[in-house]
Amino acid sequence: MPLAQTREIAAAQRLDKVRYAIRDLALVADEVTRQGHTVLSLNVGDPNIFDFQTPPHLIEAVHRAMKDNKNGYAPSPGIREAIDSIRAEAARKGISSVQDVFITGGVSEAVDICLSALINPGEHILTPSPDYPLYSAVLSKLGIPITTYDLNEDDGWQPDLVDIQRKITSSTRAIVLINPNNPTGSVCSRRMLERLAEFARRHNLVIFADEIYDKLILDDNQQHVSLAAVAPDLPVVTFGGLSKNYLAPGWRIGWGIVSGEASAVKPYIEGVHRLLRSRLCANHPEQYAIKPALEGPQDHLIEVRRKLHSRRDITMKWANSTPRVSCVSPRGAFYAFPRLDIPEADDVFVKELCLQKHVLVVHGSGFGQKPGTRHFRIVFLPDEKTLEKAYQGIAEFISQRYG
Ligand SMILES: Cc1ncc(COP(=O)(O)O)c(C=O)c1O
Repeated sequence: MPLAQTREIAAAQRLDKVRYAIRDLALVADEVTRQGHTVLSLNVGDPNIFDFQTPPHLIEAVHRAMKDNKNGYAPSPGIREAIDSIRAEAARKGISSVQDVFITGGVSEAVDICLSALINPGEHILTPSPDYPLYSAVLSKLGIPITTYDLNEDDGWQPDLVDIQRKITSSTRAIVLINPNNPTGSVCSRRMLERLAEFARRHNLVIFADEIYDKLILDDNQQHVSLAAVAPDLPVVTFGGLSKNYLAPGWRIGWGIVSGEASAVKPYIEGVHRLLRSRLCANHPEQYAIKPALEGPQDHLIEVRRKLHSRRDITMKWANSTPRVSCVSPRGAFYAFPRLDIPEADDVFVKELCLQKHVLVVHGSGFGQKPGTRHFRIVFLPDEKTLEKAYQGIAEFISQRYG
């Protein structure tokens, strides 16, 4: 018998740039937990680990589907009643030129499929900086170099149109817009969307509009506007799902809505469907929650927004009164991205903060940020008492370490 050899199996080099700082930090938190401390987690955007619960009528719908033996494969694009319901929701949001709707394993899978179906080697997709790391992970996996455009902190983290103009080349195929934004909590005005659409029109670009937080707008005087609604002529893929608005991230239900001129988007839609078929289908019974979610009672949203509003205000009160911290006030989702005026890198700050004060946040460099700037991302989902305790810990840490 030949001698068994232990040979290291190297991972693909393309993966070198795949980072997911949000989960990578769990290793530090595990160490702190092993030492017997309780970690205050302000790092993961999962409402269900805090005081938010999936609306019961959605759970009943999934339970019923399971009992009715909807446990086999679903059609690859998703079940009919859910697709019709997403189309009706798109119409309510003013998206008039819908050409296709499909259901996926969370927005994560929709992003993977939709970027993969578009991009060829040598082409680029502009992603925001800072960004939600899913986009750069998918592009890295495809071997596509990352090209980012700045979100402008001095302009409330709005897309920097001058930078976008500078970065667009003949090989640019698309722009990613995350609105409301993770990690900054910013929300785009209609005027900004119109100006972005104008760029896309001029340069023949697709827009990927990630609107997974569209019902989590924190101020009464602001309404979410869908990019596809202001640009019916443009090829736009709008992403949405149950994870955030409907408090069910573990169900892994998301969707994509392709809008624009029918003849222009037809070949692209065919490409998307080829990929949808190759992965068979999204979770089946959970798809039965989509129609009751979009068409049933929305009462939970009143409570969710009330909590988030109060927790955002606590966050801003703290940020405005803490030396070395400044922060653009978040207007949507549940993230804040404060700037740090400190003499060391933000990943060191975050690691030491966790080790010394047992508060877990994510460093700005994990999302990409302007060279020379330092930030960290806060998830303000925890209850008021937990937030107050965490913010006290961060303030003490800053004062003890930096004076
Ligand atoms: C901007 C953004 N897009 C997509 C996702 C992934 O969503 P899903 O749970 O639907 O895969 C997240 C999750 O935090 C997100 O913040």
